[in-house]
Order: sequence, then C-alpha cells, then structure tokens
Amino acid sequence: MHLVALLFLTKSPVRKIVIAGNWKMFKTQAESLEFLKGFLPSLDQTPQDREVVLCVPFTNLNVLSKNLHGSRVQLGAQNVHWEGSGAYTGEISGPMLTEIGVRYVIVGHSERRQYFGETDYTVNLRLKAAQRFGLTPILCVGETKQQRDTGETESLISTQLEKDLVDIDQENLVIAYEPIWAIGTGDTCECKEANRVIGLIRSQLNNPDVPIQYGGSVKPNLIDKIMAEPEIDGVLVGGASLEPASFARLVNYR
Ligand code: 13P
Repeated sequence: MHLVALLFLTKSPVRKIVIAGNWKMFKTQAESLEFLKGFLPSLDQTPQDREVVLCVPFTNLNVLSKNLHGSRVQLGAQNVHWEGSGAYTGEISGPMLTEIGVRYVIVGHSERRQYFGETDYTVNLRLKAAQRFGLTPILCVGETKQQRDTGETESLISTQLEKDLVDIDQENLVIAYEPIWAIGTGDTCECKEANRVIGLIRSQLNNPDVPIQYGGSVKPNLIDKIMAEPEIDGVLVGGASLEPASFARLVNYR
C-alpha cells in the first residue's frame, strides 16, 4: 500500500485509546477482588498505547482503589452529581470520587436516561461537574432501534451532542457511541456502520482528537475488527468486562 494511503488509514497518533469496562450493577466487593486476581496478571502483555479503565459500582471503588495501586488500570464511576455536596439523597459528588482515586466517570448512559429520568439538561450539568472536579467524563450517546428504523440516528445524535456539550471542555472528554439496540442484546453494530457514525460525531466536535469509543455487545471475537476501524478509539463494554479472561482479551486487542 502507498505510504500516504497507509497514513490516512491509521488512527491519529494524538488520539488516546480507551478500553473501558462498565460493570453496571454487578459484583460485590469480594467478587471485585476475585476479578482482579484473575485480570491483573494479563496486563503484563498490554501495550502502552492504550488506557484501561474499570467503571464499577460506587461500593466497589474504595476496595478497588486500594488494590489497583501500582497497576495501570484507571478507576471510573458510573455517575456523578452536579453539586459538590448538598441535600441530594442517594447521589455521589465529584470530590467524593476523586478523594478515592477515581479518574473517569460515565455520564448520560442510556440506562440512566431510560430508567432514571436523565435528560440532556441533567447530563450537561453532570458533565460540567465532572470536569470542574477533575474527572474525565465518558459521555454516552446513541439511538433506539425505532429511531434507527425511522432514519433519525444522525439527527438524534446531533441533538444529543449539541445539548450535552454546552460549555464542555473538549480537551478533557471521552465520548461513547452506544446504539441502544446493541446494548446487552448480542446484536453488535456492524463495524463499518459504527465507524461511520463515530466519524459523524467527530465532525461535530470542536476538538477532533476527542477519543470516541464504540459500545454495545462488544465481545472478544469482535474486538480486533472493531479496533481496526480508523475512527474508533476504544470500546465501552458491559457484559464482556465482567469476566477476567474476556476483559483481558479486549484490553489486549491486536
Ligand atoms: P454490553 O457490552 O453488555 O452490551 O453493554 C454495553 C454498555 O452499555 C456499556 O456501557
């Protein structure tokens, strides 16, 4: 292949690669420690070009923080409130997370939007708070099956980005394209299509170097193909991040 063509096909060397697990509401503290025992040794072979993140339930953050010490795994939470403290029963603030070594936080996951009434307005507030308190937010966007079938994917995502990113610093941000119909269904989005939508997302950003992940039924047998796509800078993984061997394969994609 011609060298110039090759340069265009490879990912920008500036963009960070982020392989993140989202444990959702799975694992007790004891189960988290059991996971680490199986998973950490596999990081010996992990190339330095990628960031490895585990976004775990709040109750597991402290124990993981203590036991990740010295490893290259970064700790992530699954939500953050927009105030530093206050009368907000059931919520967790940025300073509570950074105090225990949390670096990343998922914001606007479709399960939060669907089951807990999160709107683009509250997603934007949470993104701003994450950055204000020194966390890197992973903003999730994506369409439902119905929106895809009626040709609304592009406009829906464009609106989400427009509303969610008001006053957001794009130098400290990760975006995850998670088509809702692909989450937990085994119906992974076709790689070329995920690459196309992620390219569209990138074209709407002020900073083209924001890492953009794909999420939705990412499995070990698909990871090499997904990561070969030029626009895809990583993955956000639910089910396949729960088992050490499976997450190790994702992190050590080739
Ligand atoms: P699955 O990988 O289980 O489909 O979940 C994806 C997801 O929602 C990650 O945030």
